[in-house]
Amino acid sequence: MLITSLIEKKRDGFEHTKAEIEFIINGLVDGTVADYQMTAWMMAVCCRGMTEREIADLTTAMVHSGETVDLSDLPGVKVDKHSTGGIGDTTTLVVAPLVAACGGTVAKMSGRGLAHTGGTLDKLESVPGVNIEQPLDSFKEIVRKTGVCVIGQSKNLDPADKKMYALRDVSGTVKSIPLISSSIMSKKIASGADAIVLDVKTGNGAFMETPDEARKLAKEMVAIGRNVGRRTVAIITDMNRPLGMAIGNGLEMREAIEVLQGKVPYDDPLVQVSFTLAKHLLRLSGIVEDPEDAIPMLKAAIESGEGLKRLRDMLEAMGGDPRFVDEPNMLVRVARIVPVYPNKSGFIGKIDAKLIGTSALMIGAGRAKVTDRIDPAVGILMKKRYGDAVSDNEPFAYMYVNDETNYEEAVKKLLEAVTVTDETPDELPLIYDIIE
Ligand code: URA
Ligand code: CA
Repeated sequence: MLITSLIEKKRDGFEHTKAEIEFIINGLVDGTVADYQMTAWMMAVCCRGMTEREIADLTTAMVHSGETVDLSDLPGVKVDKHSTGGIGDTTTLVVAPLVAACGGTVAKMSGRGLAHTGGTLDKLESVPGVNIEQPLDSFKEIVRKTGVCVIGQSKNLDPADKKMYALRDVSGTVKSIPLISSSIMSKKIASGADAIVLDVKTGNGAFMETPDEARKLAKEMVAIGRNVGRRTVAIITDMNRPLGMAIGNGLEMREAIEVLQGKVPYDDPLVQVSFTLAKHLLRLSGIVEDPEDAIPMLKAAIESGEGLKRLRDMLEAMGGDPRFVDEPNMLVRVARIVPVYPNKSGFIGKIDAKLIGTSALMIGAGRAKVTDRIDPAVGILMKKRYGDAVSDNEPFAYMYVNDETNYEEAVKKLLEAVTVTDETPDELPLIYDIIE
């Protein structure tokens, strides 16, 4: 086979065979396919698309490009959740311990990624001492003991994806449903999950800005799951505003702890989305037949403190200092907590979630480059939500600041992110669709 002919074949809109896809992926990993050839092929995929069968074959080839994790010696159905990425999206820290408290087995590997705020791994590391690089044996031991462990992906997992993502990032080929769906699903499959619940975000803070685009991506990922034998459910949720009130790693850890302490009402959006993800994880785990039956169990896991205990036990087993779970205000000790006032009184009529993420990043809550250091204590705590009435003499948010270098500009971004209107805006749905 010749890589140039395969690039031309996709350029002209033809369907690849399984062997051709394997040739491309193996060639990328062993260096016989050059980066510029891979990039050209991925651009052809962006323009021409792929059939469901091609996408399943691409995903499988990516899974086998590196190490795969075998979790079969752990009891029960191993479930994993994945979010396509949002702002103030702390659901993993709520959902994973709650599902474990209800009898599920959550063995999750997360990627680090670049994001407006940190990812789950950065949030875990906001607790001093936590080591997210656990060897497989100790990862499994923690899952056996506590029912839950979330660690970083091993370095040898899915090397094809690492190369592809790095090339896509600099070649205008990120936004392609075949490439995004295979990228996400290959990592989930390689990390050993039996069943997967996907939180596909839609809105101005998400990859997929419209519900229709999100639905297409979700359907493709569910189809991959079906074609490779992993039960997959996708929930389409709103990202036209931060999900929780906290944006920043320690702030988000504290918010998750507050949910598990029962301090956050059940109708709060973060709790609502967490419960929706958790009830489908419990159904895929075989613990409930009807997802609705999981709701009283989840509430009981909060009210008894069992969910919080699972999080605390997991963090302690990973080397973390449990006093930070017992006293979560210790997570967010900063030099200054600064109130931010709206420009005028009215209602919060529009929120640009991505800009809020950018504002938090500017004061050190996220990374602009892979090598940037995150300050776990800093970030933004929203006091008002989309649709709330605001007054120009009452703060709508607080900034938790240490390094003041970009502070002024970050405040400007935060003000720019929030549009105050004279009338209450239309209500936004929180959950758009469930695809299975
Ligand atoms: N997340 C991934 O892991 N891969 C993509 O391509 C996009 C989002
Ligand atoms: Ca985030």
